[in-house]
Amino acid sequence: MATARASCIIAVLFLLALASTSSSAQQLSTSFYSSSCPGVYDAVKSVMESAIAKEKRMGASILRLFFHDCFVQGCDASLLLDDTSSFQGEKMASPNNGSVRGFEVMDAVKSAVEKACPGVVSCADILAIAARDSVVILGGPNWNVKVGRRDSTTASFSGANNNIPPPSSGLANLTSLFAAQGLSQKDMVALSGAHTIGQARCTNFRAHVYNDTDINSPFAKTRQSDCPITSGSGDNNLAPLDVQTPTVFENNYYKNLVNKEGLLHSDQELFNGGATDSQVRSYVSSQSAFFADFVTGMIKMGDITPLTGSNGQIRKNCRRIN
Ligand code: HEM
Repeated sequence: MATARASCIIAVLFLLALASTSSSAQQLSTSFYSSSCPGVYDAVKSVMESAIAKEKRMGASILRLFFHDCFVQGCDASLLLDDTSSFQGEKMASPNNGSVRGFEVMDAVKSAVEKACPGVVSCADILAIAARDSVVILGGPNWNVKVGRRDSTTASFSGANNNIPPPSSGLANLTSLFAAQGLSQKDMVALSGAHTIGQARCTNFRAHVYNDTDINSPFAKTRQSDCPITSGSGDNNLAPLDVQTPTVFENNYYKNLVNKEGLLHSDQELFNGGATDSQVRSYVSSQSAFFADFVTGMIKMGDITPLTGSNGQIRKNCRRIN
């Protein structure tokens, strides 16, 4: 009896927790700043256009920042916080250390937005808009970004280490780390298409290009040529995630997978005789199907446990709490 009551209470608490998560996501809307800061979109876009004109890779780097932010305590700009004496930030966690980039660009975006509307727009929303703009500027799909997020007052070093999938992941692990964020396997495969832009370091693809068999050998040889076999040498040497066009957002990533030219072990896992092969093939034959599912995935990812209402704050400087 007592156990039954306890399980009933647990079930109710669980449902309440679920309801509160989805209701804060429901408080996001595409019109949140329509009277308080209608200029936010132009301000973000013009900084992103010049940053990407200066260096095309920056679009990829900003898109990745959004992913690494949302997978740790939700999309709350926790990743943008520098370390303080009271908490260790996320920047030095293993998926991020020596790897994530674009913080200076986010500072520039924040300054432009603060000039237009001081104290109104969160860093979390600015990052969501900047990620969308990056995709559009590099040739990908457009969508209306839901906004109304607030910024965290803390970060999670351990969350960054535990929630963000490593490139050594197999399909089951990728699927379960996305499921832990409320994202389906289908979302995972579509969002991985972000690897149609950007670069990875030798340390992250060495094992795949030397040890794996699900890779075509001319491609493996090319990648080996600038990624020495010995760990510790050439670790930071870069290679394009999309061997064909790393600064254009299209469906080439999936074409590479079908040719066994995925750069990361985790990339090739999406097309390796398993349940996701058919989805990969569908994106090879239809770029518009990929774009539609990528947009759905980005909107779902942007909905991960936002701070809304009076939770969190609107940071003045994205690197520190007010
Ligand atoms: C599915 C699981 C994923 C894994 C295991 C993974 C892993 C990685 C790794 C290891 C790198 C290279 C980092 C380096 O060598 O410094 C990378 C780069 C990148 N990732 Fe992912 N990623 C995943 C999903 C995503 C998602 C969902 C997005 C965005 C929607 C994304 C966007 C990017 C971008 C754009 C880059 C290139 C960044 C740059 O050039 O600065 N990734 N990813």
